[in-house]
Amino acid sequence: MNLLRAVKGMNDVLPGEMARVQRVERAFARTMELYGFGEVRTPLVEPTSLFVRAIGEATDVVEKEMYTFTHHDESLTLRPEGTAGAVRAYLEHGVPQAEPVTRWYYIGPMFRAERPQRGRYRQFWQAGAEVFGDAGPASDAEMIDLLVRFLREIGVPDARVMVNSLGDAAARERYRAALVDYLTPKTDRLSPYSQRRLTENPLRILDSKDPRDAEVLADAPSILEVLSAEDTAHFDAFRRHLDALGAPYEVAPRLVRGLDYYTRTLFEIKGATAKLGAGDTLVGGGRYDGMVADLGGPSVPAIGFAAGIERLVIASDSPETKRSLDAFVAPLGDAGIAHCLVLARDLRAAGVSTELDGRKATLKAQLRRANAVGARFALIAGDDEVARGVVQVKDLARTQQETVARADVVATLRRKLGENESAS
Ligand code: HAM
Repeated sequence: MNLLRAVKGMNDVLPGEMARVQRVERAFARTMELYGFGEVRTPLVEPTSLFVRAIGEATDVVEKEMYTFTHHDESLTLRPEGTAGAVRAYLEHGVPQAEPVTRWYYIGPMFRAERPQRGRYRQFWQAGAEVFGDAGPASDAEMIDLLVRFLREIGVPDARVMVNSLGDAAARERYRAALVDYLTPKTDRLSPYSQRRLTENPLRILDSKDPRDAEVLADAPSILEVLSAEDTAHFDAFRRHLDALGAPYEVAPRLVRGLDYYTRTLFEIKGATAKLGAGDTLVGGGRYDGMVADLGGPSVPAIGFAAGIERLVIASDSPETKRSLDAFVAPLGDAGIAHCLVLARDLRAAGVSTELDGRKATLKAQLRRANAVGARFALIAGDDEVARGVVQVKDLARTQQETVARADVVATLRRKLGENESAS
């Protein structure tokens, strides 16, 4: 029979790799708590209409990347991103009435039917955050500062922060018109994909990777030229705050993003292309001051970001850490097994990480396994040790062995592990 395989673009993470993932996730959670964010969990499945309304009908995500199915006449979608669900939950639980400012973060899987390649998957994990209720440019700058700090902590010191402003709906309309005016006489020089976008969603053309489009866009107008005075003031203040924080950034006037909900501040953080290939965008985010009201809530400003965890793991220089274990309990013979089962339980109760070998294997095979799992000590007990009320404690790093009374084993091991820790 053929072995079943995972769905294309959806990956397993086995414990060896998981250590690197956990390192990133833990650093993220630590950073977010440090900045006063609380963790939120929302469902993986939401009504399809939520994403259509929040993300926008003419986006790639909604048009062709959503996993949508019907269950009992209801159209449901595996979430392609976390912001729409967070806003839904924020409103459903009456949070805007309960607190003026809300800071949430999340870590979880997202689903997009994209063409899989390095750094681009169909199920991927995001670490993201949303701030509701703070319209000021200081919170935009604080978010960049937080991200730069987090990236440094996980070993991505050279990430490039690109910032832009999309202004409000009126500015985008003005820009859209200016862009259409500029591009229309050059339509036949655009890629076929961008030609189609010219009528539906011209701003998305700026995001094209096609060299034909890049050439046409070289002299295109910049959105920063058509911003209102208020939007310009917001963007300038945001940049002044970044300067005050010493956060590195570049203004990228052509930066647009694949989701339609953004207003004003927009940003992306890129890692080294050499490592990440086409998936070099580590973090994407921005303000979406209209979404809460668009989804039926009060007018509440919001800003957020999400980072792709797989991409962070690829970008961060973390060595493959070997799993480690404090104790490996190796029973010999039937009496040994019963004795060691209790011994292993007592060790774990004292906080000593322990694996018990229940295979009835030879001592040699058990010690091989103890070394393979990175155990610090092997505890050996056969019929003879049980009868004498002792255990053999073998220091696997120093290849020393001593006989310890069963009653003293837990305390002895804790002492040795403590010494070990202070020595390292
Ligand atoms: P996004 O730019 O669509 O934004 O995704 C954010 C990040 O998720 C990307 O920069 C990338 O690292 C990762 N990512 C996206 N698609 C894939 C994929 N197919 N495979 C691997 N990684 C991927 C959002 O999702 C917004 N919700 C961010 C946000 C939050 N804006 C405001 N609040």
